[in-house]
Amino acid sequence: MEKILVLDFGGQYNQLIARRVRDQHVYAEIRSYRKISLPELVSAGYRGIIFTGGPNSVYDPASPHYDPALLEAGIPILGICYGHQLMAWMGGGEIAGAGTISEYGKVEFTHSESELFNGIPEKSICWMSHTDYVKKIPEGFETIAVTEHCPCAAMSCPEKKLYAVQFHPEVTHTEYGERLLHNFLFNICGCTGGWSMEDYLKTAVRGVRETVGDGKVLLALSGGVDSSVCAALLAEAVGKQLTCVFVDHGMMRKNEGDEVQAAFGKWDLNFIRVNAEERFLKRLSGVTEPERKRKIIGEEFIRVFEEEGKKIGRVDYLAQGTIYPDVVESGEGEAATIKSHHNVGGLPDFVDFREIIEPLRNLFKDEVRQLGRELGLPEYLVTRQPFPGPGLAIRVIGDITKEKLEILREADAIFREEVEAWEGRKAASQYFAVLTNCRTVGVMGDARTYGYTVALRSVTTDDFMTADWTRIPFDVLAKAGSRIPNEVAGVSRVVFDVTSKPPATVEWE
Ligand code: XMP
Repeated sequence: MEKILVLDFGGQYNQLIARRVRDQHVYAEIRSYRKISLPELVSAGYRGIIFTGGPNSVYDPASPHYDPALLEAGIPILGICYGHQLMAWMGGGEIAGAGTISEYGKVEFTHSESELFNGIPEKSICWMSHTDYVKKIPEGFETIAVTEHCPCAAMSCPEKKLYAVQFHPEVTHTEYGERLLHNFLFNICGCTGGWSMEDYLKTAVRGVRETVGDGKVLLALSGGVDSSVCAALLAEAVGKQLTCVFVDHGMMRKNEGDEVQAAFGKWDLNFIRVNAEERFLKRLSGVTEPERKRKIIGEEFIRVFEEEGKKIGRVDYLAQGTIYPDVVESGEGEAATIKSHHNVGGLPDFVDFREIIEPLRNLFKDEVRQLGRELGLPEYLVTRQPFPGPGLAIRVIGDITKEKLEILREADAIFREEVEAWEGRKAASQYFAVLTNCRTVGVMGDARTYGYTVALRSVTTDDFMTADWTRIPFDVLAKAGSRIPNEVAGVSRVVFDVTSKPPATVEWE
């Protein structure tokens, strides 16, 4: 299999580089420069290597370096940012502080004739972020691009297939970054493409088998996309050695618990579904304060999981569906800090295990969905919108009762059905109903009603940090507005939320 090595020197975009390579149907793996020796690297059969960026200055003794002999190994290399400076240093060039000519952000660069710039206009925009620059290029190299302030925005030694750019071709702000990477992969490294998520799956399954051996794996399954794909991958890899604990806290959407369970029917694994609705409701009884609800659910979840874990006894691995955006790179790509997950936070303190495994750690969300499809998970699960760990508990405003949850589940299912039938549905990143604690007067037949007000919320966003409300057409809203009070007993009014985030949050609580 043709593969590219992304040699990690601690840059913040390393995963993105690998992802951009995979986007071009060439397999890429990331290895820390510390963890792969020159002989191992040379014998691994890489078609090419990409040196990543990094936060350091090459003259800092503590900064990452690599054996200069690599430049003579006959493997095509593309250096990016720090990787550009490192290549210059390895080849005997000179680096200097850029001082006032440091560049950050979008900058125009001009290039001369090079295989690397095939099909790229002579002048275009690139993304720069550097405080050092290559002052003197190594012998045998030529400068192939400049910017107003940077005398060497790119250099090459075509005989040895060595190329380097000061800017970041992997970020979308670099207009022709994709083309540049394509040129490197296909024209310079001689890759042919053809790699797919199916291949990724095979590699990942093999990797999990090697790591786990005949050990036991435990996973807390929330029913969200990430934990479901993680569970399916592990089930595929180690089958019965995997125990999935699916805690149904009773705050799921309509039919959700059954759907999640059904999706795993085809694997032979230990699937434990804990129907814990009663105990969650009991602990939540009379609680109205949102953060308190979250806390109770988090605690109770751990307790249930712990009880189930104890029944299994010692496990060797605790698996988590952490995906790349959850991982905050610490600088080396080795010791990453994980965001506290609302759903599984605290588990390691309670369960006796040897190691954590996170098989989706290198994937972006859309890649995770693709992997889920490859594993044969149903589309409704793979394309599932984000759903908060505490579930409907933070969408029932005020105290939570079984009756209120039931009303909300029905109203929410109708709204989702109508949004999903709308041809512009892709604009809606997350859409749901909220049961407000406000009862209002209505009239049905000739009788007065006094039921709940249901609020409909739909947001359009890339990252959920900021969000706009989705411009759902009136006729879609009209249909939901008519169906909900008619089909769900206890609802007398429906309103649509037109606040963006900020100032509002996505969820009401
Ligand atoms: P907010 O309401 O903070 O939501 O604008 C942003 C995104 O986060 C989700 N969310 C949660 N997810 N546990 C979760 O797992 C939580 O407690 C929680 N609160 C909000 C929310 O659904 C949206 O996608």
